[in-house]
Amino acid sequence: MRSEGILKKYGKLIDIPDYSVPLSLAEGDTPLIPVPKIVEKLGGGFELFVKFEGLNPTGSFKDRGMVAAVSEAVGKGSKTIICASTGNTAASAAAYATRAGIKAIVLIPEGKVARGKLAASAMYGAKIIQIDGSFDDALKLVREITEKFPISLVNSINPYRIEGQKSAAFEICDEIGKAPDMLCLPVGNAGNITAYHMGFEQYNKLKNTGIPTFLGVQAEGAAPLVIGKIVEKPETIATAIRIGNPARGKQALEVVQKTNGKIISVSDKEILDAQKILAGEGIWVEPASAAGFAGLIKELKAGLDLSDKKVVIVCTGHGLKDPDIVEIGMPTKVKPILSEVEKILF
Ligand code: F0G
Repeated sequence: MRSEGILKKYGKLIDIPDYSVPLSLAEGDTPLIPVPKIVEKLGGGFELFVKFEGLNPTGSFKDRGMVAAVSEAVGKGSKTIICASTGNTAASAAAYATRAGIKAIVLIPEGKVARGKLAASAMYGAKIIQIDGSFDDALKLVREITEKFPISLVNSINPYRIEGQKSAAFEICDEIGKAPDMLCLPVGNAGNITAYHMGFEQYNKLKNTGIPTFLGVQAEGAAPLVIGKIVEKPETIATAIRIGNPARGKQALEVVQKTNGKIISVSDKEILDAQKILAGEGIWVEPASAAGFAGLIKELKAGLDLSDKKVVIVCTGHGLKDPDIVEIGMPTKVKPILSEVEKILF
């Protein structure tokens, strides 16, 4: 049941210390939406589901990990948490901190954070600091700050973030009855891919549900795991994954190696096209969240055979996070008279 939140729902399967003070904003239990019309457009012959993580309380998958990390931080007596963020982690940290009655400090790369995310951090009362640099610079700084001061780091290098985030893999198995054959997801700092793999492995040991092949997808201008080296100045319209030096990059590479998968990159145009196709099904996700799907389309075009397979694309954040990326155009304006409206309609 959604109102429980993931800590209550999965209990001991999520390994956080006993001293933790369990929080909940009723995160998790997001829908797994079948998209058969999209499958037809892509040639048919397989099943495709969208795990819509944008329907978490702060609009992204980060809430799953954040509830665990903040519960642990509060339990050990932390009065302040801190994170570097491209926006979603910040919003989530801010929400759970205020829920717990503690402070959140968020460091964001200057000028590149989508408006919905910044607004959320402000509303939840976080102290927001813009860094004249990238996410990677911000992450380095928060590591230094937490070494110097008694402040808890809640980026995904915090193991409890991974513990919470793996609950999405449990949910997918619970819903389908087993793991899908393939899981496609965006990769930024590489926490989520690490968490999903851990979740599928754990469930497989317990319930023999299997482990999917992982397709991790980065944006072309921020694809360190594809080109094999750090990207000093990452660039992409998918600002959530505008990261040049993923903290869990090594683990992400291990995941794809173990599962016979791969990490590929897609262009900004491919991301925006994928975002539009999903919106055409009534599923509006932010650009980074469409990257997994963009990668799947690219792989299908390159000859990937998915006959009779079950595929899940993880859509990590809601479209409302980044409204500015949408070209709306000026709606036609008319007088409030039926005949005037009719003229435009027909
Ligand atoms: N999708 C969205 C919407 C994200 O916000 C992020 C990461 C990712 C995908 C990638 O996940 O980092 O675990 O590989 N956002 C972080 C943030 C970096 O600060 O909000 P990852």
